[in-house]
Amino acid sequence: MIRLKTSEEIRLLRDSGKLAAQTLRFAGSLVRPGISTLEIDQLVREFILDHDAYPSPLNYPGRPTDPRKPRIDQGCFPHSICTSINQVVTHGIPNPKDVLREGDIVNLDITVCLKGYHGDCSATYGVGEISAEANNLVGLTQKCLDAGIASAKEGSFLNDIGSTIQDMAEAEGYSVVRDYCGHGIGRKFHEEPQVLHHRDRPGPRLRKGMVFTIEPMINQGGWKTRLLDDGWTAVTADGKLSAQFEHTIAITEHGTEILTVCEN
Ligand code: MF3
Ligand code: CO
Ligand code: CO
Repeated sequence: MIRLKTSEEIRLLRDSGKLAAQTLRFAGSLVRPGISTLEIDQLVREFILDHDAYPSPLNYPGRPTDPRKPRIDQGCFPHSICTSINQVVTHGIPNPKDVLREGDIVNLDITVCLKGYHGDCSATYGVGEISAEANNLVGLTQKCLDAGIASAKEGSFLNDIGSTIQDMAEAEGYSVVRDYCGHGIGRKFHEEPQVLHHRDRPGPRLRKGMVFTIEPMINQGGWKTRLLDDGWTAVTADGKLSAQFEHTIAITEHGTEILTVCEN
């Protein structure tokens, strides 16, 4: 069942989305050769706490924990953001050993919970100068997200989003990850519907009050992924590069609104 949000709830989701976007902008400003992904995580966690919010990934899907003295339950995510470098598709775990190097690409995925509502967004950044191939992948992935959002209108089918993204990616010789998808979001971090980024059954029609993410992961090589032994980190099966961008959007009476923006 897809839970439709009231206009009051969308106001709250707009606030959390705005904070998520501000946090992502801050996180992106930290990207440089020599910084570790755990250093980025720690600075971003402080930023989120300073804005009276909670970093949703911390101990997910377990209960929120004390962010300054986290107690991580078995199998739960151990840090505040996801950091996915190069061939990592999604859900990379911040690590002091993962030091960014010139030429890397890194996705920073930020989710905050403000006043009980989640906002979720991500972007892929180049570290210093990156190759033309990496730059093309990142640009195309951004374009796929934008086209997916443009296809999401009240009355359209949910899977118009996936069809649009798959067509755009494959026209350029890239592939679309199928093992992870976008999701409804609200008081829960992940709720119905699942938002596939590839072509599938049409699914439900989009209606006012639906709030969900679109977060395509686009690969240079094949679409298949492999999960590392840490239980979270997904990598490309063929070791080639992957990029991802994400926004949270709402279907409202005034049209489709991107919630994860800094200036509305
Ligand atoms: N932010 C991710 C998403 O877009 C989910 C991260 S869950 C975590 O849905 F536990 F890995 F943080
Ligand atoms: Co998401
Ligand atoms: Co996310």
